[in-house]
Amino acid sequence: MLKILILGSAAGGGSPQWNCNSEVSRAVRKKQPGTSPRTQSSIAVTSNGEDWVLFNASPDLGSQILNNEQMHPKKNLRHSPISTVVLTNGDVDHVAGLLTLRERQNLSVYAHQRVHSVLKSNSIFNVLNPDYVDRRDLKMNEKFALKNKEGKDIGLHIEAFEVPGKIALWLEDESKGDDFGTEDGDTIGLKIFSQKDDKYFYYIPACAKMTSNLATKIKGSEVVLFDGTLWKNDEMASSKVGEKTGQRMGHMNNSGKDGSIEAFKNLDVKRKIFIHINTTNPILLEGSNERKIVEDNDWEVSYDGMEISL
Ligand code: MLT
Ligand code: MN
Repeated sequence: MLKILILGSAAGGGSPQWNCNSEVSRAVRKKQPGTSPRTQSSIAVTSNGEDWVLFNASPDLGSQILNNEQMHPKKNLRHSPISTVVLTNGDVDHVAGLLTLRERQNLSVYAHQRVHSVLKSNSIFNVLNPDYVDRRDLKMNEKFALKNKEGKDIGLHIEAFEVPGKIALWLEDESKGDDFGTEDGDTIGLKIFSQKDDKYFYYIPACAKMTSNLATKIKGSEVVLFDGTLWKNDEMASSKVGEKTGQRMGHMNNSGKDGSIEAFKNLDVKRKIFIHINTTNPILLEGSNERKIVEDNDWEVSYDGMEISL
């Protein structure tokens, strides 16, 4: 058994985003029917119903824990069902929630060495006291068992792999050329398995391009949670909220010949679910043409609190 709980379905900034007055953010603030607020990208997964693993720790983690009973302390005066955290990149929307996880609670944190090294060089993360928080290397292209701080199996295996993407926004270095100093391991995807029955799904919240390797990997799988950031590459400019394209930000668009809807067409994935959706993306509005296209192509749009069982 695998239970997936979507804690946050939006991209960095959430929806509504605090300073955004474009169509979706406005509609969500006005509580327009067919809209809902979305917090920043994160999921929690369990295979035994008891030990939950957090995949990415968003700046909204405090409210995500509050709003989802599964994440509440269950036993003793100090307890959390969250025993382990796995990070897929170093972006603010995926690491800032680590600061919420201080307060002397045992945790294991898995990340690529690239991400660990930036956390290490930022002394604010020292609030994660090493007596309680074990930082572990996320091995690449190898299936392994996640273990809690005490070294106990918690019923989940993962396999991490690099996907096309980019270095975290706050680490970009223009002097390093067009890719701003991006290196292998800056953006990873995950295959997450239940140890008992080998059920699995893919979690890929950021991906700049569908490669033939990635297509082969995910072909025929039951569930893929995939980068849903933007409907089209120039969406920030056409919504007049910025200039950066999706490609510049390391995200492939949903629509178009080079988009994810097209790229998944022959991959026979049973449930295709967009996650990490930017507040400019019209698929967030139920009833929009773009939402209809998404649904006509058998894609789902994730929402906060959504539960998926395999
Ligand atoms: C992204 O996914 O592109 C980043 O999360 C952007 C950000 O840090 O806001
Ligand atoms: Mn992001």
